[in-house]
Amino acid sequence: MKTTIAEIGKYVGQSVTIGCWLANKRSSGKIAFLQLRDGTGFIQGVVVKAEVGEEIFKLSKEITQESSLFVTGVVREDDRAPSGYELTVKSVEIIHEAKDYPITPKEHGTEFLMDHRHLWLRSKRQHAVMKVRNEIIRATYEFFNEQGFVKVDPPILTGSSAEGTTNLFHTKYFDEDAFLSQSGQLYMEAAAMALGKVFSFGPTFRAEKSKTRRHLIEFWMIEPEMAFMDHEDSLKIQEEYVSFIVQSVLRNCKQELAALERDTTKLENVIAPFPRITYDEAVEMLQKDGHEIEWGEDFGAPHETAIAEKFDKPVFITHYPAEIKAFYMKPHPDRPEVVLCADLIAPEGYGEIIGGSQRIDDEELMKQRFDEHNLSLDSYQWYLDLQKYGSVPHSGFGLGLERTVGWVCGTEHVRETIPFPRLLNRLYP
Ligand code: 4AD
Ligand code: MG
Repeated sequence: MKTTIAEIGKYVGQSVTIGCWLANKRSSGKIAFLQLRDGTGFIQGVVVKAEVGEEIFKLSKEITQESSLFVTGVVREDDRAPSGYELTVKSVEIIHEAKDYPITPKEHGTEFLMDHRHLWLRSKRQHAVMKVRNEIIRATYEFFNEQGFVKVDPPILTGSSAEGTTNLFHTKYFDEDAFLSQSGQLYMEAAAMALGKVFSFGPTFRAEKSKTRRHLIEFWMIEPEMAFMDHEDSLKIQEEYVSFIVQSVLRNCKQELAALERDTTKLENVIAPFPRITYDEAVEMLQKDGHEIEWGEDFGAPHETAIAEKFDKPVFITHYPAEIKAFYMKPHPDRPEVVLCADLIAPEGYGEIIGGSQRIDDEELMKQRFDEHNLSLDSYQWYLDLQKYGSVPHSGFGLGLERTVGWVCGTEHVRETIPFPRLLNRLYP
């Protein structure tokens, strides 16, 4: 019977064959332990010389790391094994022999691993991170589908910028100038006016010269946009969504979180509602703790971490000064110097995972903002139409997938949370 490691529990006591690779091995004179992986999981194959005979035992001892194999054996339950099962090997067939696999079980430096990212993905830790990433994506679709959102795909090649012009990737679009999307938001606002509640999930690009553990040049964002929803309504959706994805990972990725040695007690706590503080309160908190920050300045990573440390759940910081936020955010009706926005800061030093706001829905104010931000009306004419034809209160937000995966997995750097990271100085592999 041909099966996979993930399905192997259905065949206890039976003989099965799996296509797999050799991740690692150790052996003595009479017994060999093969660490096998097939993409769906990891399992130990035990080869006993007295049972398989001289020839298969010799072959088993000589298999090189990452050689591909067909292994046949009997499935046994084993409480000590991470997967819960072990394979008593009966025979081994080598499909392809790998020679000198560069990533050996010893420690390697980060740059070396990054140069071999195409192979590094096979390791147990990286495998676990990719599975958690997949679960967060799956849970995202489940959550928004259940809430009646429609998935909409904004363009990646655009003629306009959503998040300011300083970090745009420029390219030629035949004879015109074009940019890689920084955010699908403006298009999602148009889609919300057509479909009510919408969400997107796609790659976004920022030519940011930032070399931090939180910044990627290419990252994936989930961007919901909701007609007839104000700032408050949006915060509720955000906290429910983040709780939902964290609880889904806890439920469905137990083996992966164990492989990552993630302290899950901190994640179990992530249940809505989340605490909220205003930007004003955050500045006061920081000043009290001796940080040098004045009202009107944006927060850096150390500020976000200091604030997050005061809470045991993600925390919303609301009502930032309009000056330091994007042009489309709606001013507070009683305090026009601040906007109806919030950043969601993850616990444990992972920083901002969501940025969102209620949007301006008044044509005159929008035009004024275009002036103030020196944005040309040529490429935004279509966007102003949204204020002209049946404008409504609406809100939305963007969740950075990689920062969220990094937090849930407890990775040190966001580079491990995407299959092939694009970083400052890295376009290979
Ligand atoms: O705060 P940002 O820039 O917000 C927007 O782009 C809005 N237009 C979203 C919206 O309202 N539809 O980015 C949103 C999130 C951040 O909170 C962060 O999680 C992530 O995207 N992000 C990055 N992740 C990795 N690398 C980068 N360089 C990132 N820049 C933003
Ligand atoms: Mg932001």
